[in-house]
Amino acid sequence: MARPRLLPEPVGLHLAALESPPDWDAEFGFSGPLELEIGSGAGGHALEYCRRHPEVRFVAFEWRKKYARDTLDRGHKMGLRNLRVLEADARFVVPRIFAPGSLDVVHLQFPDPWWKRSHFKRAVIQPAFAQLLLDRLKPGGLFDMRTDVQDRGVSMLAILEDAGFVNPLGKGVFHPYDPEEVPSTRERRYLASGEPVYRARLRKPA
Ligand SMILES: C[S@@+](CC[C@H](N)C(=O)[O-])C[C@H]1O[C@@H](n2cnc3c(N)ncnc32)[C@H](O)[C@@H]1O
Repeated sequence: MARPRLLPEPVGLHLAALESPPDWDAEFGFSGPLELEIGSGAGGHALEYCRRHPEVRFVAFEWRKKYARDTLDRGHKMGLRNLRVLEADARFVVPRIFAPGSLDVVHLQFPDPWWKRSHFKRAVIQPAFAQLLLDRLKPGGLFDMRTDVQDRGVSMLAILEDAGFVNPLGKGVFHPYDPEEVPSTRERRYLASGEPVYRARLRKPA
């Protein structure tokens, strides 16, 4: 009889299973800014960002097992001490493991557009979750968002601004490309092809 295949334990389960925020200083072994990435995919942004910013404690959520595991493995090979990868649905775990006012930056790059109307409810940026992210950021904290889908960019900006995020460039205005920013895996393709990317950098009021 064939044996049941045992899947490996989800990456980052010790954090994803918590009911309340951990002591992040103890988890990482050092104090510093705390940043969140939602949907890190193949990990291009998370890994390079952690390499460039060793002072940042970076928590990446990616619910696809292969991506989450590969990103963690590559992070280990790169010797990154400042990266944690959680194979989990950010919408359910973020509210539990980050205290209000604890995050310095939220990164959201190229979230799935969920083309079918019946799938809209799976989109990360919904009014209630936008409120939650605003609450978890520190005053003055940054929300960095990028997308290749213009109408999703417009609607996410509107939801985030309605939730209370401030757009320093004016309501509904996208941010120009900044060559200093770390591109995500998907973004590298667009930078090479010249296809448009819609960017926003919003702030929680100080
Ligand atoms: C279009 S991909 C973009 C990946 C990456 N940010 C990039 O720019 O290359 C979106 C990613 O978000 C992940 N994702 C979508 N919703 C998620 C959720 N609620 N929690 C965790 N990961 C999620 C998907 O599995 C997918 O890898």
